[in-house]
Amino acid sequence: MAKQEALRTEQMDAPQGFRTRPLSPYVGLEILGVDLDRDLDPETIENIRAAWIDAGVLLFRGCGHSTEAQMRLSRCFGELQPSANKELNLDSNPYLLNLAYDPNSERAWTATLYEVGGQVRAGWLGWHWDQSFVPRIVRGAVLRMIQVPAAGGETGFMDAIGAYDRLPESLKKRIEDLEIVYEFVRIDETERNRFGFPKDLRAIRKADVSALKSKEGITGNEFPPVVHPLVITQRETGRKVLKLSPMHSQYILGMEPAESDALLHELADHLVDPRYAYFHTWQKDDMIVWDNWRGIHCANGVPPECARHVQRTTIIGDYEFGRYLDPAHEKDAPTNFVYD
Ligand SMILES: [Fe+2]
Repeated sequence: MAKQEALRTEQMDAPQGFRTRPLSPYVGLEILGVDLDRDLDPETIENIRAAWIDAGVLLFRGCGHSTEAQMRLSRCFGELQPSANKELNLDSNPYLLNLAYDPNSERAWTATLYEVGGQVRAGWLGWHWDQSFVPRIVRGAVLRMIQVPAAGGETGFMDAIGAYDRLPESLKKRIEDLEIVYEFVRIDETERNRFGFPKDLRAIRKADVSALKSKEGITGNEFPPVVHPLVITQRETGRKVLKLSPMHSQYILGMEPAESDALLHELADHLVDPRYAYFHTWQKDDMIVWDNWRGIHCANGVPPECARHVQRTTIIGDYEFGRYLDPAHEKDAPTNFVYD
């Protein structure tokens, strides 16, 4: 633990094979002095992984400039998940997802646009951890910036261990054994997300999801309701996590609706408190890895005329906290998809 605590302050010597610098007072760590364009030695890999477990979010800036560098970094954190959506894959690499917004594409002309904070945004996404609407969520992901947008495009990160620690003791006790029911909320139904979302969020144009479905072969009803605990323990450290994904959360299992709504509003507002967030302004080839079992993230989106392109790899793991509300669905559990 002493080693992990030490990582929170800037270290100019490099006993672990790199230097570190906090990204913000409450979230994340920048790793400096790692060359991801070359193979890493086992000790450096182990130390990068330890820093990831400690900090939850790591930034690598100027450390690597290629797909190979991103793959090398991604494999430090576990096995990777191939994507089922060939529309988004690189042909040469099933593990690499292209997440691009091109204002001149047909897809952009039909994308959902939101107005939030007085600005129109494409690609806006509220606070969440990935895949709350399935039982077994991915371990994490690595994003690499390919095309920096002319404006906007920041990604927000929040630490849910710190958020748990900031809860009053009485609330910690109250939520210890509670569970939340999640249901998938489509991008054209964002108003169904009631907890922790900006009060002024307004969809000014909704994507034609049914057209996208038929075009991209996406079938409906893949995501029946699931249940996740509200508090989990980080297995490597024993620290507790406020394991709430505001996006897609519906109600607390077994609780009266009014009481459930009040508690989820209180917890979500606490969790997304902007004083504790880190918003990353991207530079080309920045790579960020997050621990999806621990923190939440969000996307500020871009002005509709601004292109943005990132490549993503996804890390899998043996998450075992979630389940279907109806156990009969267990046999149909999807293992591979691209929504988050
Ligand atoms: Fe996400």
